[in-house]
Amino acid sequence: MDAMTAVMTRRSTRRMKPNPLPRRLVEQVIEAGRAAPSGGNSQTTRFIVIERKAALSALAVLVERAFAAMALEPGLYRSLRHSIEASKKGGYVFHYGAPVLIVTANKAAYGNAMADSACALENMMIAANALDLGSCWINQLHWLTDDPSVRAYLEGLGLEKDETVTGGLILGWPDTEDGLPPRAPLPRTGNPVVWVE
Ligand SMILES: Cc1cc2nc3c(=O)[nH]c(=O)nc-3n(C[C@H](O)[C@H](O)[C@H](O)COP(=O)(O)O)c2cc1C
Repeated sequence: MDAMTAVMTRRSTRRMKPNPLPRRLVEQVIEAGRAAPSGGNSQTTRFIVIERKAALSALAVLVERAFAAMALEPGLYRSLRHSIEASKKGGYVFHYGAPVLIVTANKAAYGNAMADSACALENMMIAANALDLGSCWINQLHWLTDDPSVRAYLEGLGLEKDETVTGGLILGWPDTEDGLPPRAPLPRTGNPVVWVE
């Protein structure tokens, strides 16, 4: 698949088979993330690759608990509201049971932390598409980066004390009829362009 096709057909996959992925494929995706540009070539984004089932399950429980304890205040960002509502209901699995969750982290005090990690995450999503893998940005651990229980657990998995969770990405085999990720582009209703000629 050429680069433009990989970019233009990338879509989020939220239904994954639980089957593990070959290490070789996961490594290729991570290398695409590591190849992303960074401000001043700082290369400070770190990738915590969680494949251990017990860790994925424990995180799902901690995340659900943290969101369930939050108040549903008016004006909440739509996705955050969904996470809180789903957690209060119970049975919320923020990573959709995917076999791999890549958590991105960066220095909390670094001004380009989010921008650099977003470049890495997008590179990984495009690479996953080119490799016929499903992927989806997963933001809950970013929102909960300062939640004491979630943070303590992530520190046990390798998050450094001076780091903030910038985002996350699930990877897996798409659970679709043809086994391929969804690729039909969504209509563009936003992202306007202003030409100055
Ligand atoms: C910053 C960011 C955060 C996102 N967080 C989540 C998330 O936590 N869970 C989820 O299922 N999708 C998440 N997404 C995926 C978006 O919902 C998705 O990209 C959007 O609906 C467009 O669909 P597409 O990716 O198939 O083009 C996130 C995407 C971005 C860029």
